[in-house]
Amino acid sequence: MAEISHQVHVALGARAYDILVGPRLIDEAGSILAERFPGRRFGIITDENVARTHLPRLLAALDGAGIDHAEIVLPAGESTKSWAFLGQAVEALLAARLERGDLVIALGGGVIGDLAGCAAALVRRGMGFVQMPTSLLAQVDSSVGGKTGINSPHGKNLIGAFHQPKLVLADLSTLDTLPARQFAAGYAEVVKYGLIDDAAFFEWLEANREEIFAGGPARGEAIARCCAHKARVVIEDETEQGARALLNLGHTFGHALEKDTGYSDRLLHGEGVAIGMVLAHRFSTRLRLAPGQDGARVAAHLRQAGLPTMLGDIPGTLGATETLMAAIAQDKKVSRGALTFILTRGIGQAFIEKNVEAAQVSDFLDEARAG
Ligand SMILES: NC(=O)c1ccc[n+]([C@@H]2O[C@H](COP(=O)([O-])OP(=O)(O)OC[C@H]3O[C@@H](n4cnc5c(N)ncnc54)[C@H](O)[C@@H]3O)[C@@H](O)[C@H]2O)c1
Repeated sequence: MAEISHQVHVALGARAYDILVGPRLIDEAGSILAERFPGRRFGIITDENVARTHLPRLLAALDGAGIDHAEIVLPAGESTKSWAFLGQAVEALLAARLERGDLVIALGGGVIGDLAGCAAALVRRGMGFVQMPTSLLAQVDSSVGGKTGINSPHGKNLIGAFHQPKLVLADLSTLDTLPARQFAAGYAEVVKYGLIDDAAFFEWLEANREEIFAGGPARGEAIARCCAHKARVVIEDETEQGARALLNLGHTFGHALEKDTGYSDRLLHGEGVAIGMVLAHRFSTRLRLAPGQDGARVAAHLRQAGLPTMLGDIPGTLGATETLMAAIAQDKKVSRGALTFILTRGIGQAFIEKNVEAAQVSDFLDEARAG
C-alpha cells in the first residue's frame, strides 16, 4: 500500500485527476500505476540531474511491477524548453513505439513537466501523461493545471497547449536532493498563493517557514495547501479566461527579468517571481492601491527565505528600461495593446487590472532600478 499523506482531487469532469503527496511515491509508483493504468507502457522523460538522483528508483519500481517503459534523458535547465528538445522528446516517444493509450511520465522539475506535457499533447494527437514533480516549484505549481509548453526567442512559454495530466505523484523525498537555491526559488510560488487571496496562509507561512525549509510535516502540508488552491483556480477557469490569471502575480515583471538575464543562472524562475511579486506590491502602492507596509512585509518574508527581492539583487547589469518594457509588452498577458497586470490592495487581495498604462510601468521601473 502506498503511503499517501495528502490527496487533492482536480474535479475537471472528463479530465479530472488526483494529486497524491507522500513520502516515497516514486518507489511506490509501480503498484500505483499498475492499478490506475493497467497494461499500459510508459515513456519517462527526465533531465540529467534527476536521472542521476531519482530515475533509478522509478525504474526499479516499474520493473518490480512488470511495467514496460522507455527513458528519454534531456539536458537540465530552462534552455531545454525549446523546439530542438521538444522535437527530440517527441521523436524518442515515437521511436519507443508508444501507442496512444500509453502514457508519458514527466519526472523532474517544471522544465521537464512543461516539455513532457507538451510532447504528450502532440504525439499521436494527444497521449496521457503523469506528472512526477521533483522540485518544490513543480510540486506546488507547474505539475498541476495542464499548462504545457516551451519557450521562444520571443519570450517564455509562448508555444504550448493546455493538456491536463492523468495523475500527479509528488514524492516528498525528492526534495531532499534539490539544491537549496532551487528550493528557495520554489518557495516563491508557495508564498504567491497567500498573496493572491489567502492572507491566513501567508501568516501561516510566516510562522512555519523554518519547518518547511527543514523538511518537517509543515512541508507536506504547505505543498498540499498550494495544490488545493491551484486546483480550485483551475477548476474555475481551466484555460485562463479570467481568474486563473491571478496565478501570474509577479510573473509579468518576473518573465521580463528572466528574458533580460537570458534564462540563465543569474536569475531562476522563482527568483524572478519573488522580485516580481515585490515589484507588483510596490507598483500597487505607487498607484495608491495598497499600503506600503504590506509590500515591506512580503519583501521581508521572501528575504528570510533567501530570495532576491530587488532589481539590484540580480547579479550583473540589467538591460535598459526600454528593453524590459519591450519584454513586458511581448509577454502574453498583453491584450490589444493594453498591459494587463496583477495588482494588489494588500496581502491576500490581488486583482487583475487590464488597463495599465505603459508609461506608469516604465516610470516605476526607473524608480525601482534606483533602489
Ligand atoms: N506549467 C505551469 O503551470 C508552470 C508554472 C510555474 C512554472 N512553470 C515553469 O517551470 C519551470 C521552472 O521549474 P523548476 O524551477 O522546477 O526548474 P527545473 O525543472 O529547471 O528544475 C530546477 C533544477 O533542479 C534540478 N532538479 C529538479 N528536481 C531535482 C531533485 N529532486 N534533485 C536534484 N535536482 C533536481 C533540475 O535538474 C534543474 O537543474 C519554468 O520553465 C517555468 O516556466 C510552469
